[in-house]
Amino acid sequence: MKRNVIVAASIFALATLANHVFAEAGGYGASEETTKEPIKPIEPAKITNPAMVELGKKLFFDPRLSKSGFISCNSCHNLSMGGTDNLKSSIGHNWQQGPINSPTVLNSSMNVAQFWDGRAKDLKEQAGGPIANPGEMAFTHELALDVLRSIPQYVAEFKNVFGSDKVDIDQVTKAIAAFEETLVTPNSRFDKWLKGDKKALNETELAGYKLFKDSGCVACHNGPAVGGASFQKMGVVEPYKTTSKVEGRSAVTGNDADRFNFKVPTLRNVELTYPYFHDGEAATLKQAVDTMGRLQLGKKFTDEENAKVVAFLKTLTGEQPSFMMPILPPSTDKTPPPKPFN
Ligand code: HEC
Ligand code: HEC
Repeated sequence: MKRNVIVAASIFALATLANHVFAEAGGYGASEETTKEPIKPIEPAKITNPAMVELGKKLFFDPRLSKSGFISCNSCHNLSMGGTDNLKSSIGHNWQQGPINSPTVLNSSMNVAQFWDGRAKDLKEQAGGPIANPGEMAFTHELALDVLRSIPQYVAEFKNVFGSDKVDIDQVTKAIAAFEETLVTPNSRFDKWLKGDKKALNETELAGYKLFKDSGCVACHNGPAVGGASFQKMGVVEPYKTTSKVEGRSAVTGNDADRFNFKVPTLRNVELTYPYFHDGEAATLKQAVDTMGRLQLGKKFTDEENAKVVAFLKTLTGEQPSFMMPILPPSTDKTPPPKPFN
């Protein structure tokens, strides 16, 4: 309990600092004012290696990297639905119930580390996980590579991108990560406002942003991703009640003080990424905002305040990645057949 109080106190201090910075900016012109905001605009992705991105896109959509031949990265990180599956927890191989909610892949390149507990240091390290996870794609890296190597068009594409005749898991994860780095969502209405278009937000939305800052949400949800930058306790002021057995960051550090610490999720596109929290227990933004206010900050929002914060959060929906659907090269007579039912 003592620890909680200390954490809460430091959050209030941070929030006060954020307000102070904002207040100081009051007298400046629009652009200088917005550079002092705790939230920064997202910049469009700079694509340096388009061939690698194209290959990564194919792999992201290719269900043949799973044992069933049915589950791709896009099954659980559906790019038509904000990069999530909109389920409490994901459905894996053989309709297995996953232990945790699927976070969005949008803007995930901005995360301090990957997964709710941060056990993968970056997107490349992360990308190898699901293929071999028995509860997700249930394959092995070797079998996935056998599939890719049996398809001459893939072999040629890997050679074109990596300049080598062999296809290995390092290349696969590198290409997927390169594609994921392009999945950023610039030009949200909030970013337009940050960049000086004062008409981009209406009064309700602005009031919601002010509440978001003044209440202290920005202590944890800040920066370009409005989160993703730190691990924080779920349940700072009041404990979080859940039936989920997931313990968060302590699973990685082995440190008991890290129990129920999770990576602060990005709030970019949060309108699209329901349901919320690591256990997916908050069905609506209204619920999530209410829980956050009470548990993280000891603040009970009125219905009206809650609606304002929600209105603000919806201005964080940015331009979704748009591209041609990849057409995947066909399997050949040598391609190991999928095993959907065992
Ligand atoms: C069966 C559903 C499922 C499949 C298939 C799947 N994922 Fe995930 N993904 C999840 C879940 C659930 C998590 C959260 C796991 C955790 O944090 O413990 C996750 C986490 C992630 C993250 C971390 C995001 C963050 O904010 O921490 C990235 C990136 C990601 N997946 C990319 C991929 C890629 C790339 C593939 C394909 C190779 C893939 N996923 C396949 C369900 C899935
Ligand atoms: C002490 C740090 C902290 C503060 C302060 C905080 N949050 Fe959070 N927020 C988190 C963490 C950690 C999670 C993930 C918790 C979980 O899944 O168990 C989260 C999750 C969320 C989510 C769900 C996102 C998702 O994709 O699941 C929303 C929405 C949210 N916060 C909004 C807010 C609002 C609004 C405030 C202010 C009232 C706020 N947060 C204050 C740390 C914080």
